[in-house]
Amino acid sequence: MNEIAEHATPVAFEPQDVRWTMPVDALMSDDYEMRDEALNRLYEKAKAAQWDVAKDVDWSSELDPDNPLGMPDPTLLIYGTDLWGKLDDKGRREVRHHAQGWLLSQILHGEQAAVICASKLASAEEGLSARLCAATQVMDEARHVEAYARLVEKLEVRYPMSRSLRSLLEDTITSSALDMTNLGMQVLVEGIALSIFQSVVAYSSDPFIKDLFARIQRDESRHFAVGRITLCRVYADMSARELREREQFICEGASVLYEHLCADDIWEPMGLSRRDCSEMVRQSPVSSSIRRSIFRRLVPTIREMGLLTPTVQSTFEKLNVLDYAAMPLN
Ligand SMILES: [Fe+2]
Ligand SMILES: [Fe+2]
Repeated sequence: MNEIAEHATPVAFEPQDVRWTMPVDALMSDDYEMRDEALNRLYEKAKAAQWDVAKDVDWSSELDPDNPLGMPDPTLLIYGTDLWGKLDDKGRREVRHHAQGWLLSQILHGEQAAVICASKLASAEEGLSARLCAATQVMDEARHVEAYARLVEKLEVRYPMSRSLRSLLEDTITSSALDMTNLGMQVLVEGIALSIFQSVVAYSSDPFIKDLFARIQRDESRHFAVGRITLCRVYADMSARELREREQFICEGASVLYEHLCADDIWEPMGLSRRDCSEMVRQSPVSSSIRRSIFRRLVPTIREMGLLTPTVQSTFEKLNVLDYAAMPLN
């Protein structure tokens, strides 16, 4: 056990493989013309921006045993609650460690799912520009899996996929509609992930963590842009019945992600009551504002795609994130 891990109760879980069936067309097109200028620019950027996790990042850097990601305490879900007030230094250290180990583990699972989704898009997208963008994304996501797996290893606290994340990833990967895979991964999951990465880059006090997350964030911004460009076009031509299914998918996906962000799995391994802590997190204004802010990119993107229908608006209103719809997409 390294010095970092000594500060946290290790989480033991049986690694369990999940196997889903992914319906995908293997399209062999005879059209080799790169027709899409906006996507071609993103493809060129992706080629020029490749980097090596093993060589370009300083892995000898030691993480702070008290706070591995170097994040300020108000980013913790139980910050400001009675429980937080009662915890001594050791207890607070353990909460930071578990919260960060959980978050990194979920990101790692999401990155693995992104490799799978990008490979599906590379196999089946109609235009060559979109397919080659997806092919570069497969490599980007492989790099992210490598990076987060190494980081989780450093923390020695790792968690399985949350039940909520697992259900969203299953729906995203197993959908027979290619745009749903694109929507679930590039817009919902990556929209949430990008906001988390932005916060880490903005608030972490650790230069190694900042550098690593900033590099990954740049890759993710390209994926997010490709998803937005492709889907805006698909949805502009879609029938009302098909659009209703997408609307439903967004409502369910956003609600599931909002639940996922409560991190219910971290309390029991620390000897705390899952029920009490989960309830506390759902009632805490600090936690609501943290979870809410993570939707700041996702909501304007949905608006831009023309999918901010009354049904979607009402879900966003329930989650208290609808005001982000008026924000510009940066
Ligand atoms: Fe990624
Ligand atoms: Fe990505």
